[in-house]
Amino acid sequence: MKVLLWLSAVACLLVAGTEAASNLVCYYDSSSYVREGLGKLLNPDLEIALQFCTHLVYGYAGLRADNYQAHSLNENLDIYKHQYSEVTSLKRKYPHLKVLLSVGGDHDIDVEHPNKYIELLEGEKVRQVGFIQSAFALVKNYGFDGLDLAYQFPRNKPRKVHGDVGSAWKSIKKLFTGDFIVDPQSALHKEQFTAFVRDVKDSLRPDGLLLSLTVLPNVNSTWYFDIPALNGLVDFVNLAAFDFLTPARNPEEADFTGPIYNPESKDRLAHYNADFQVNYWLQQGFPSSKLNLGVSTYGNAWKLTADSGLEGVPVVPHTDGAAKEGSQSQKPGLLSYAEICGKLSNPQNQYLKGNDAPLRRVTDPTKRFGTYAFRPVDGAVTDGIWVSYDDPDGASNKAAYARVKNLGGVALFDLSYDDFRGQCTGDKYPILRAVKYRL
Ligand SMILES: *[C@@H]1O[C@H](CO)[C@@H](O)[C@H](O)[C@H]1NC(C)=O
Repeated sequence: MKVLLWLSAVACLLVAGTEAASNLVCYYDSSSYVREGLGKLLNPDLEIALQFCTHLVYGYAGLRADNYQAHSLNENLDIYKHQYSEVTSLKRKYPHLKVLLSVGGDHDIDVEHPNKYIELLEGEKVRQVGFIQSAFALVKNYGFDGLDLAYQFPRNKPRKVHGDVGSAWKSIKKLFTGDFIVDPQSALHKEQFTAFVRDVKDSLRPDGLLLSLTVLPNVNSTWYFDIPALNGLVDFVNLAAFDFLTPARNPEEADFTGPIYNPESKDRLAHYNADFQVNYWLQQGFPSSKLNLGVSTYGNAWKLTADSGLEGVPVVPHTDGAAKEGSQSQKPGLLSYAEICGKLSNPQNQYLKGNDAPLRRVTDPTKRFGTYAFRPVDGAVTDGIWVSYDDPDGASNKAAYARVKNLGGVALFDLSYDDFRGQCTGDKYPILRAVKYRL
């Protein structure tokens, strides 16, 4: 009997051990519901993903600038058309699934109040109580399992090139590489954020609700996250370790946007890669099992000029900002995986010339940096494009990395930019599947 008990205890431990890299946190951007055309993701499409996801993060709620309360950014959809309830009720069919409501992200854009997230921290306690009560009410009333804070902190300054100024500038380029102080009060804001998260957690704890953090791209963790203190407060952290370079931030040069490791070269910043970000959290004592590596399902696309050259090897110089928006993504400089796949060589486009010619894909046999595809400006091609992205293989490499590092798993940003219709090879959600398979 004792032996049996002991054996089952060992078996439990083994099961718990293999559970380390098992989280697959799927972000669902509900604004995809109101996109036009093939980018529109409806609930039957969403459902197909749920067999693979352990968590669904419903994005995004926002912060009201007048009273700092949490609110739906699309009440018509979320509340009057019952999308909050429709999505949380999918848990009945997928009982393993936890659904969290996310506040912030890059979706709560408010040009008149760009600092409202900082103002919430700086305000009197009553302001934070108002936020906490309103966020709790959304979570509770609509059946969410918890809250995700995709908190908007000031972003680090982009790395800049001044190639045309000459090499004298280049040698002191460090001055231009993000060592700027973007927030002289960051130490204070870090302290305030920890206290705020503690209060949020206190409101959720009695109901057993989850709390997670999303670290947004280009938010410097050193400045804003008191990692040892947060460890006791949050259930997990999703590190959005991509968008290190984007056409909006880095219009004049294109590079890998979410490499796992730093491609060795003096022109690159040590912290613009997933490994650096992950190691930072781990070095600060955050448990690896609570850390999920963020992987994007879209690519960042730059417009090439004649001066960008024909080779396409990053760092690509003399780019001209964002490439044209995709018909599905509807955002300049951003192409969903389905859109990128459609631009690669296939039986329909392989003989097309000029601006309709397929992009040339360059994979990464080292599995360290990711894939890119491009079409240089040359002869009849005036519409040059260079795009960095993770295809299913690249995403799978990141899942493998998460396993090697014993991370909790992977967080996918987001379902609506994966090929949810199976336009590429017939498989729906190929990136999601590749990650799931590898975890
Ligand atoms: C934060 O920025 C500093 C430069 O100001 C950099 O040295 C550090 O590595 C960054 N930390 C992270 C976690 O990115």
